[in-house]
Amino acid sequence: MSEPAEPQEIDIHTTAGKLADFQRRVEEATHAGSARAVEKQHAKGKLTARERIELLLDEGSFVELDEFARHRSTDFGMAKNRPYGDGVVTGYGMVDGRPVAVFSQDFTVLGGSLGEVFGQKIMKVMDFALKTGCPVIGINDSGGARIQEGVMALGMYGEIFRRNTHASGVIPQISLVVGPCAGGAVYSPAITDFTVMVDQTSHMFITGPDVIKTVTGEDVGFEELGGARTHNTTSGVAHHMAGDEKDAIDYVKSLLSYLPSNNLSEPPAFPEEALLDLTDEDRELDTLIPDSANQPYDMHTVIEHVLDDGEFLETQAMFAPNIVTGFGRVEGFPVGIVANQPMQFAGCLDINASEKAARFVRTCDAFNVPVLTFVDVPGFLPGVDQEYSGIIRRGAKLIYAYAEATVPLITVITRKAFGGAYDVMGSKHLGADLNLAWPTAQIAVMGAQGAVNILHRRTIAAAGDGEAQEAVRAELIADYEDTLLNPYVAAERGYIDAVVMPSDTRAHVVRGLRQLRTKRENLPPKKHGNIPL
Ligand code: HXC
Repeated sequence: MSEPAEPQEIDIHTTAGKLADFQRRVEEATHAGSARAVEKQHAKGKLTARERIELLLDEGSFVELDEFARHRSTDFGMAKNRPYGDGVVTGYGMVDGRPVAVFSQDFTVLGGSLGEVFGQKIMKVMDFALKTGCPVIGINDSGGARIQEGVMALGMYGEIFRRNTHASGVIPQISLVVGPCAGGAVYSPAITDFTVMVDQTSHMFITGPDVIKTVTGEDVGFEELGGARTHNTTSGVAHHMAGDEKDAIDYVKSLLSYLPSNNLSEPPAFPEEALLDLTDEDRELDTLIPDSANQPYDMHTVIEHVLDDGEFLETQAMFAPNIVTGFGRVEGFPVGIVANQPMQFAGCLDINASEKAARFVRTCDAFNVPVLTFVDVPGFLPGVDQEYSGIIRRGAKLIYAYAEATVPLITVITRKAFGGAYDVMGSKHLGADLNLAWPTAQIAVMGAQGAVNILHRRTIAAAGDGEAQEAVRAELIADYEDTLLNPYVAAERGYIDAVVMPSDTRAHVVRGLRQLRTKRENLPPKKHGNIPL
């Protein structure tokens, strides 16, 4: 294409002039950020708003909306600074051939700050996505509320939050935070289904280091306070920490590949009939569980043996690693995985693990993705801190999530399923469709040691001290283990549908999911439930 003409060369009274004028405006809109601002952006290791859209969308698929929108503010010298686009690029396009809507905040224009027109553009593209039933990808890189526009900026944030909430559970919403995201602005990503951050260049916080220093006297830097690592490991706000922006965008594309365009569609499937004959790989699971119940093993091994090609996209991998969540495929159909991880805190459920898993189960349920649960849980994590921080109401979220889920639910108990945690982890009683257990499963109120200490305290005390006492204790433990620590008591009652060889797990899951593909379950109609928050 030839260089656009200079404004003084254009005669807009002719058709050729009108077209040239249009091209000049397009050129101005696509280069709304100054060369200096773009250079500064690149020097920080960050891409521009348009470069990000280009990486995200299929080549040539982007259709921009409101390219020429701009603010009408006059205060604080704003009348002289009215860039086209107003600092956010919005529109729609394709990711892997499927439609999405996108907004990309442009830090090189007015610091990506959100004013009235900027907000209206985001609202418009969200409304468009909701009407057409496609996911919204929000790319956040902004100085926050545009200070010059005052309360209008705040109003727009509120409008966006309302739309985020109304779209929740209807269309997938994914946030990329690839720069600053401060103050109340963080609540838009927080309401969306997934938030992806980039190491060192993304920051989210309600109040920044300076305000914190003034108010509480605490000294904390940007990175430590609200960097990608903090939000991936400590707060649980983010779902993935990317090494760079390309990695972040690739992760978003992978997430989209497991999600339907909206709640009325099925997730994308690439059906490929699984061969159900036992393989050497299947047989590896028969030797995975250690003889000693206290010895850990990596639950990822089980997950990878069941999923197609062992491919597992983990979510919140760095947060509450005592529970593992993420997506994979079985026979080409997406499934969500929830699994206790014996390698971390022995797989205990704590507040963070409960909330992480609860949110994930609800995401799967909202978007028609079956949930496959692997259980090896010794119970809830004991501790004053856990109790004071509300393990009761916060652990209850996981029960609520499983009990309200109507997607296919398959649960496999590999080893421990003790106490309340047995109930919580996708048990038959909460509504799972197929509950399997390995012969190594131990389904009981508690482990042998604790049970014997409570049940036989007097017998053990009467046995004297030292070796004699230990011998009695060992005998009682063995008796408890032989009687109760197995899957058969539960299987007798139908709480377990089948006890299966570990090596047969894949085939059972495949058959189960095939059968459950036509599952239809409706809960009583209501305005909405009241999940404990
Ligand atoms: C208007 C802003 C702006 C803002 C940045 N700019 N933030 N303009 N409103 N909120 C402008 C700058 O003036 C500058 O303009 C350009 O954007 C680039 O900013 P720099 O400061 O040069 O960039 P950098 O050094 O990278 O620092 C980035 C930053 C800093 C840390 C984000 O700009 C900053 O602290 N901004 C203010 C952040 C803030 O307090 N926002 C309000 C949060 S409260 P020029 O013309 O010089 O290039 C909020 C409430 C939301 O957002 C409520 C929702 C309910």
